[in-house]
Amino acid sequence: MQLAAAGHDVTALDRSESRLGRLAENLARTGMSAKTVVADALDWEAPVPFDAVMLDAPCSATGTFRRHPEVLYRAHAAIIAQSADLQKRLIRRAADWVRPGGSLVYAVCSLEPVEGERIVTEFLADCPDFQVENAGDVVPGIAPSPEGWLRVLPGMLEEAGGLDGFFTAHLVRRA
Ligand SMILES: C[S@@+](CC[C@H](N)C(=O)[O-])C[C@H]1O[C@@H](n2cnc3c(N)ncnc32)[C@H](O)[C@@H]1O
Repeated sequence: MQLAAAGHDVTALDRSESRLGRLAENLARTGMSAKTVVADALDWEAPVPFDAVMLDAPCSATGTFRRHPEVLYRAHAAIIAQSADLQKRLIRRAADWVRPGGSLVYAVCSLEPVEGERIVTEFLADCPDFQVENAGDVVPGIAPSPEGWLRVLPGMLEEAGGLDGFFTAHLVRRA
């Protein structure tokens, strides 16, 4: 929705028809447009290379425990390992859709380094044509890590109501 609102030509892909249905309703309500694709990202082929791909990856969601405390009961070791395995495959797949010089943003609402920092570290080791673009002050008041990515924790910005736990990295494909 935010990319469409900023004027970008957006393709939104999810294997969940109901999720994309909600997106289509919200686009119609706000008078914006985006192409929606119901597909498994692991099988889908991009019609053309994209300027940017945002991978809001499925994860254990442990970062949302303030609003959804039950995630801490559900997110046992096997679930986290399963998520990390899928994330590894999804980030490699999404990287194939990015044009040279384009961006890949990886994000998860997980507190687990194996779903965040480790996914990106291993991806960069395997795909040296990508590098981290420093996140700068994209979230005012939160400095990026020395690597340039952002790790946001629920205790941060408490005075503004606090945050969910999140990890995100902006990767750029060398031209
Ligand atoms: C963190 S949620 C993304 C939520 C989305 N940004 C939104 O605002 O609705 C992760 C999404 O990944 C989807 N997903 C999981 N595995 C997938 C796959 N192999 N291919 C495509 N989508 C997948 C899930 O259906 C879920 O909607």
